[in-house]
Amino acid sequence: MRISSIFSLFLVSALFVSCSGSSDTLVYKDANAPIEKRIDDLMSRMTLEEKIYQASQQLLGENDNDNNFESMNTVDLDPRAGSVIYSGDDPVHRNAFQKKAVEETRLGIPVIFGHDIIHGFRTIYPIPLAMGCTWNPDLLTQCTGVAAQESRQSGIDWTFAPMIDVARDPRWGRISEGYGEDPYTASVFAVAGVKGFQGDDLTSDHNIASCLKHYVGYGASEAGRDYVYSEISKQTLWDTYLPPYEAAVKAGAQTLMSAFNDISGVPASANHYTMTDILRDKWNFDGFVVSDWGAIEQLINQGYASDISDAASKAISAGVDMDMTDGIYIRTMQKLIVDGKLSEKVLDEAVRRILRVKFRLGLFEKPYVKETPDSTRLLLPTSLAIAENAAEESMVLLKNDDNILPLNANVKNIALIGPMVKDQEDMLGNWNGYGHASDVTTIYDAFVKEFPSAKISYAAGCSHDGEDRSGFAEALRVAKSADVVFVCLGEKNLWSGENGSRATILLPQVQRDLLTAISKCGKPVILTLNNGRPLELTAMEPEATAILEMWQPGVTGGTAAAAIVSGRVNPSGKLCATFPYSATQIPIYYNRRNPARTPTQGYYQDMTVEPLYPFGYGLSYTTFNYSELKISTDKVAQNGTMTASIDVTNTGKVAGKETVHWFISDPACSVVTRPMKELRYFEKAELQPGETRTFTFNIDVARDFSYINDEGNRFVEPGDIYIEVNGQREKVVVE
Ligand code: GLC
Repeated sequence: MRISSIFSLFLVSALFVSCSGSSDTLVYKDANAPIEKRIDDLMSRMTLEEKIYQASQQLLGENDNDNNFESMNTVDLDPRAGSVIYSGDDPVHRNAFQKKAVEETRLGIPVIFGHDIIHGFRTIYPIPLAMGCTWNPDLLTQCTGVAAQESRQSGIDWTFAPMIDVARDPRWGRISEGYGEDPYTASVFAVAGVKGFQGDDLTSDHNIASCLKHYVGYGASEAGRDYVYSEISKQTLWDTYLPPYEAAVKAGAQTLMSAFNDISGVPASANHYTMTDILRDKWNFDGFVVSDWGAIEQLINQGYASDISDAASKAISAGVDMDMTDGIYIRTMQKLIVDGKLSEKVLDEAVRRILRVKFRLGLFEKPYVKETPDSTRLLLPTSLAIAENAAEESMVLLKNDDNILPLNANVKNIALIGPMVKDQEDMLGNWNGYGHASDVTTIYDAFVKEFPSAKISYAAGCSHDGEDRSGFAEALRVAKSADVVFVCLGEKNLWSGENGSRATILLPQVQRDLLTAISKCGKPVILTLNNGRPLELTAMEPEATAILEMWQPGVTGGTAAAAIVSGRVNPSGKLCATFPYSATQIPIYYNRRNPARTPTQGYYQDMTVEPLYPFGYGLSYTTFNYSELKISTDKVAQNGTMTASIDVTNTGKVAGKETVHWFISDPACSVVTRPMKELRYFEKAELQPGETRTFTFNIDVARDFSYINDEGNRFVEPGDIYIEVNGQREKVVVE
């Protein structure tokens, strides 16, 4: 062999080694190589079939979501799958399947294990709708941080959360899973949730990838029914439904989930405008999109695809990178590409995005989790303390006549009546991950502990529904023997959540009858509620001296409620979703537009248009006095800044946490009419008795006084704008 050829052989092999790190490390397996280089290298090695499996999610374990009895994976579970929905909390089981993927497939690509960790893995904290009522995003970050730690150390790398759909129809069961009716509130909590789930280092065993869902406009489901059509104009899409997604994508969320709903004729899971024009081209999102369960196959039901091949082609071309559980990509994509009906480049881009998230999670370096005992990772004391704080801050005191709460310390005889008193399962709420009902501290047990010197008596009175009133007599007897009576009512946890739509938002008649009966026993009655949606309480309200909205508070729910009742905790929750006066008012929400004939016309002849309890409503055991609203200037440039401030004084005798909500309103906008008012900032702080604190809204006009048009472009319009806080308003002229 001539010298020159030996030399060139040496050069080529040296070049190969330099590209692939050490001679025995392939680039995609080289942790020191840049992620994009690792993706390039791996993609170059993958066959078409391997790419198709990578773009598919299958189910590992039992399907624990009864709503998804169809669209099951009709393809055998394969370790080449890009992901599995892992129905298990055992690291050993997870590692066993991961071993098949990493050690028994040609390229050893690790699987990403996903599941619905919505409000806790095992330490279940309050449902998201309740978390929105805390007005404490940092607390949500702590909660999702606990959920991430328990998940990653138990084998879950990726949660299908946070759900950030703005919802204004409490008939829709999934209102429980989001942060209420307001886009700004949902945006702040979306970012806070992602921050807790993902942390600062995705490779850490304390962090998991998040998944923003359900992209997009699912909360506009027609008449509150699930899986249906949603009529959303482009302006409303940008104004109301997209802001939480934009905020969370820009905060670094790694994945999104495409929704079931049909967005004004183009289903979300085949919508190129939302998943590519907006998500990719405008927001530069570089993670991946997974469909919702079977949503691709459902394009046929929705009348958008003629068969599964058509559905697969439309979904992946629109931007659905991974197919959840219906096996459609596996069943159709090879032929679509071989027949030239779909470019392999489209599949390649989807697979690149999936691999990118896997590399960012460090799954190639650490595909397995440490197999540790439950006690080292679940229900840790610090985790339970965070959950209890969340439960305390999420509860909303809706009524407190005669300041009957907190209870007088000398109370000797407390009666607890109702189906929620000893309930555990429903206190967990829907989507309760790997929570155990037995972990829940019941209202009964918590009261016994909180009031050691009082006699605590109990009667169920009735079940959650049905017509059996035979328990009323015993309940009345118990109530009459007490000094104060708690009537503890609520919803079953599956009456909200997915497929949890209800035409009426009243509690079942039997529960309402129980309250009516007890209200006549001549004792002070305090109503507590555990529910996953705003309820219609108008007829019940007069029958209770006080009403405590507990929501579905999770494992520490009873303890938090007892702490509030005893006064150990001063309630600070405020509603992030309106409680209608009547369901017939729906949709009803605070940031509506003015009627053309405001204020005299545009209302019902036979009922108020006002809700029973408005957005932002919630009582405290103390009182807060607000000073005059001050603004730093009454003229400001379109790119300027200014401040608005107000002093708040705790004028009561106990410490309390107060949330100050800052709104704007614009009497005339030439591009698009504005709501009567819209939330643009909020701040919560604890004040000691007598303490005065200045709350300041640091206004950046381009951010806080801007609106978004139907092309998604933000704009500031010169003219008058009002800053509103606590019923006061000041005009500012934007020049
Ligand atoms: C469900 C839900 C979605 C969930 C997914 C996986 O149908 O719509 O929120 O994350 O399937 O369980």
